[in-house]
Amino acid sequence: MIKENKIILWYNNNGDFMNEIAKRMHELEKLIKQANYEYHTLDKPVISDYLYDQYLNELIRLEEQYPNLKSIDSPTMKIGGVILEKFNKIEHQTPMMSLSNVFNFEELKQFDLRIRKEVEDFNYDLELKIDGLAISLVYENGILQTAATRGDGLVGEDVTFNVKTIKSVPLKLNEPISVVVRGEVFMPYKSFESLNKRRTAVGEEVFSNPRNAAAGTIRQLDSSIVAKRNLDLFSYTIVEPEKYNLKTQSEVLAYLKKLGLKINPFSDVVENIEQAIEKIKKYDELRKTLSYDTDGVVIKVDNLDLYEKIGYTTRHPKWATAYKFAPEEALTKLKEITFQVGRTGMITPVAELDPVFVSGSVVRRATLHNEDFIKALDVQIGDYVIIRKAGEIIPEVVRVEFEKRVNTTPFSMIENCPSCGQKIYRDLSGADWYCLNPLCPAQRVNKIIHFASRDAMNIDSLGEKVVKQLYEHGLLKEISDVYRLKDYREQLIQLERMGEKSVDNLLNAIEESKSRSLDRLVFGLGIRHVGAKVAKILVSHYPTLELLSDAKKEDLLNIFEIGEAIATSVEVFFSSEYANLLVAQFKEFGLNLSYQQRVVEKQSLFRDKVVVLTGKLENFTRNEAKEIIESLGGKITSRVSGNTDYVLVGSEPGSKYDEAQRLAVQIISEQEFMEMIKDD
Ligand code: IVH
Repeated sequence: MIKENKIILWYNNNGDFMNEIAKRMHELEKLIKQANYEYHTLDKPVISDYLYDQYLNELIRLEEQYPNLKSIDSPTMKIGGVILEKFNKIEHQTPMMSLSNVFNFEELKQFDLRIRKEVEDFNYDLELKIDGLAISLVYENGILQTAATRGDGLVGEDVTFNVKTIKSVPLKLNEPISVVVRGEVFMPYKSFESLNKRRTAVGEEVFSNPRNAAAGTIRQLDSSIVAKRNLDLFSYTIVEPEKYNLKTQSEVLAYLKKLGLKINPFSDVVENIEQAIEKIKKYDELRKTLSYDTDGVVIKVDNLDLYEKIGYTTRHPKWATAYKFAPEEALTKLKEITFQVGRTGMITPVAELDPVFVSGSVVRRATLHNEDFIKALDVQIGDYVIIRKAGEIIPEVVRVEFEKRVNTTPFSMIENCPSCGQKIYRDLSGADWYCLNPLCPAQRVNKIIHFASRDAMNIDSLGEKVVKQLYEHGLLKEISDVYRLKDYREQLIQLERMGEKSVDNLLNAIEESKSRSLDRLVFGLGIRHVGAKVAKILVSHYPTLELLSDAKKEDLLNIFEIGEAIATSVEVFFSSEYANLLVAQFKEFGLNLSYQQRVVEKQSLFRDKVVVLTGKLENFTRNEAKEIIESLGGKITSRVSGNTDYVLVGSEPGSKYDEAQRLAVQIISEQEFMEMIKDD
């Protein structure tokens, strides 16, 4: 839909300039959607929050300037991310909105001017923006009933048991009142570091930052694990504060404290934006001394009675904004440049640094991305460099301090693979160098690590350390060897740090992984350009590994989300001898090689039907309708095409309704839908 939309518009405007704008908007949409998925669904962000906010703000600005270029499914229309399936869902009585961002004082002054157009005589309340995740706590007669994550802003996940383990969350308030409290759950640096240390010790992947660790922890199904990880929670707001006779945000904070909830000790009330700016400068210093991550300052109008007048956009209130701190930077010496060989053979130069403390942890290494990046920076070995950690665990070298340069050694790209010694080649279309040796140890090890990783086959006890150890002992050479390990139980027990119990755990985990969903297996194969999301799309169109491995590029290109690069890469991968052998071995080992969207017990009207939703439903949220249809064997897609069986239409339907009429797809109303599902 997006693609078609844009093409039509480009021709209409017919100018290169509009063409470029539309292209950029499309690009931003894709980047944001991908980032949303990685961040909200997988809890594994790839880009930094800072960059994400930049993309989003750029897109918001372009959409304001060129409203007719806005896609109907633009990510700017969503409040948050997708909901995972693990927990029960809780609908928020009042939506959990997010905040707009400003990145400098100029933008902050604009924010102030916009408010002053609406109201006068007010104060600002300033609070630290805690970098964790939002939680909604429902207390009835003073007793904690439920705790839910934000989810998509309307429906979150029920994480009550987990939140109840947080020491600072009172199960009973100091007053027997009914109230909805919102706050931020986070993981202090100390808990974060000890958690990662424990994970490293057992060869598990580390969390990339405290925010992710908190998100991963709050979604643990076993609350005893949560209890051990020392999360914390600062409360910052109350829903419908007027019910409690509160007049200002600062009174809200004081009231939360009085009720026994934990509030952040740092907040201020100021009279104008100049004073706010002075305070923000102080907070920017203060945050470096704190024991938890903050990513900005929240500026809220203090006077609650002005909120309605100032108003809301679809995503956030207009009476508050978040001033985002610039990512923290530090100066250190680059001792050496080393090279890492990834699972695809790509070679990444890495800066080995004099250890330096930044954003709550000690940094020893930073990525230098590729040869061109190094040349553009003009960095040499021995240089003093500025590194930046923008929320992610892998920091980046941002610039060189040239005036400090003495006795440095110029950089030159290596010619041979640091792992296997073979000649390396530069990718003609990019700046990356590759080792093309399929037997290269580093590639083989990293392929296996990827295969066993959390989002692929999720073999918990087969982390980096264990894979390396088994590779060194010749027990693991390639992916399929994972399923041969059970024949080497005795040898495994003899290995260092192994023992009977851990070997049996490992072997059980491997056996269990055989039944993983096919999309995880496909992702685990490490095919270039095939991430977790693409893998899911592929198997939903080719529901067995055999079908997928026979798929031709032209057929793959018929899938809406699949472009040239992915289609080529999938075809090339499956036509290799390596892949053929792997598929045969997987079959032999009894791995699950077919994809079932959901087990459908009985025949139903929606079995194998492709359904598109449009408009607002009265009796269900969109997610509920989606779940019902999927549980009855149907499939929801976002785009009306010749393959669509039904379009379920609510009130105020969008252009999908017109499209359904044009293509003569069967349209069903909500009433008809309810009739259809009555018996199920
Ligand atoms: S007030 C309407 N205050 O930042 C939303 N939020 O992007 C009101 N956050 O979802 C939120 N510290 O998770 C508020 N002192 C604070 C905060 C805070 C962190 C988070 C919260 C929110 C996000 C906004």
